[in-house]
Amino acid sequence: MNYHFDNFKTLTISDLNLMKLSKEKISCLTAYDASFSFLLDKVGIDVMLVGDSLGMVIQGHKTTLPVTITDMVYHTRNVVTARKRAFIISDMPFASYATPEQALLNATLLMQKGEAQMVKLEGDKKEIIEFLVQQGIPVCAHLGLLPQSINCIGGYKVQGKDKAQAQEIILAAKRMEAAGAGLLVLECVPALLASEISNLLNIPVIGIGAGNGCDGQVLVLYDLLGLTPGEQPRFSKNFLTEANNIESAIRNYHQAVKSIQFPDSQHSY
Ligand code: KIV
Repeated sequence: MNYHFDNFKTLTISDLNLMKLSKEKISCLTAYDASFSFLLDKVGIDVMLVGDSLGMVIQGHKTTLPVTITDMVYHTRNVVTARKRAFIISDMPFASYATPEQALLNATLLMQKGEAQMVKLEGDKKEIIEFLVQQGIPVCAHLGLLPQSINCIGGYKVQGKDKAQAQEIILAAKRMEAAGAGLLVLECVPALLASEISNLLNIPVIGIGAGNGCDGQVLVLYDLLGLTPGEQPRFSKNFLTEANNIESAIRNYHQAVKSIQFPDSQHSY
């Protein structure tokens, strides 16, 4: 198999910033292996997130908590090997960034051995983000629903529904940008709140279950392909039901994000 397209330049954070400025929506999907990385790149997906959701969709766990840094490096490397154009973000797994020193050690593994272009971490982690960015490690913050804190939250619930909670998320988003985060993922928050945050921040905001007012969208690839068993969250959509094959399903998602047709109100809060 030839995984390489020669006529594509790899996207950088500057390209994503330009997309926000020019109001072009950023398409993002999770990827965990070389075959899907190749296909997503072929379709033109802008960002691939090697998400710790792999703990659920690849490893079969109930949560993302069992995923290790070794798992993340392995899957990031596989995705990077096959991509030519897409920007690659890799998740820092549960409890791998409790202190600045630990965060630096693990983020270094993702960047050096995995060859990620950016690492993502969950929660209002101002000091950790500042420290990593000082060391030259680009960071994507993640606010709203935090799957790694599922045992504290007590379930996969929409966040920021009341005024006080919404205000907390707005302030945290501003703190993440001030700390040096280059991107922000907002998960499972009301569409109006996500839209307000996307307008307030200069950095691109990628939503999942956060309405179509964000600067980009991400979905878990296996949800988009209808492979995830059990009840699906309201925000996810199986694009394979209206497509002839996997490539068309991914292409339809990409086009629906670019034309702001996905997510519609049925897939938003
Ligand atoms: O791990 C993951 O796939 C994620 C997305 C749900 C944003 O963090």
